[in-house]
Amino acid sequence: MQTNADTNSPTFDFLPTHGSEFRVLVGVTGSVAALKVPTLVSKLREIPGVDVRVVTTDHATHFYNVAEIPVRVFRDKDEWEMWTKRSDPVLHIELRRWADLLVIAPLDANTLGKIASGICDNLLTCVVRAWDTSRPLLFCPAMNTAMWQHPITAQQVSTLKGFGYVEIPCIAKKLVCGDEGKGAMAEVSTIVDTVKQHLQRSPLPSER
Ligand SMILES: Cc1cc2nc3c(=O)[nH]c(=O)nc-3n(C[C@H](O)[C@H](O)[C@H](O)COP(=O)(O)O)c2cc1C
Repeated sequence: MQTNADTNSPTFDFLPTHGSEFRVLVGVTGSVAALKVPTLVSKLREIPGVDVRVVTTDHATHFYNVAEIPVRVFRDKDEWEMWTKRSDPVLHIELRRWADLLVIAPLDANTLGKIASGICDNLLTCVVRAWDTSRPLLFCPAMNTAMWQHPITAQQVSTLKGFGYVEIPCIAKKLVCGDEGKGAMAEVSTIVDTVKQHLQRSPLPSER
């Protein structure tokens, strides 16, 4: 694991000062919108001075090929394989230490409900449960329109916003299932722009 003090990295104008690298952790859940994860990761990596890792649920891996992601993708089995004795790292804690920003894209209805309730039964939800709420956590809901319209969705989104997390709202379009309406994940360009805005506002790793 890297430390948070990397003073040799180059500086870029959207970062607040010199000599730091911002670490973006992408959380991925089992929405069909996970098809866009390879594109999202490559666009995030185009942001100068940004390092990216991915933490995925197992269901999410049905929608994209982990081997096509050019950065390390952490899964539930990594958490358990990494820890065999007392001195071993606890992956979800190491990831929350490593990351300056977490963006969950897509956030499906299941994991939305779990986060709203504090459930942490996999690697991603453990990272979220242990998250330092002074650091940005962005979430991009993505679900079928009928799921989106269920009254519990608005309650749970509101709960997450109450924790200080930032919603990147879903959009209306024709969904993969054939339905038309709200529930599609925000465009990748919107997600990348929102990450950039939050990186500009974040304290440097050396200032934390
Ligand atoms: C083909 C397919 C597409 C799905 N798309 C979505 C979706 O867009 N949004 C959603 O909330 N759930 C979707 N689901 C259901 C989730 O995958 C399911 O709730 C799963 O348990 C989520 O697990 P996770 O939150 O651990 O990734 C889909 C399921 C299938 C089989």
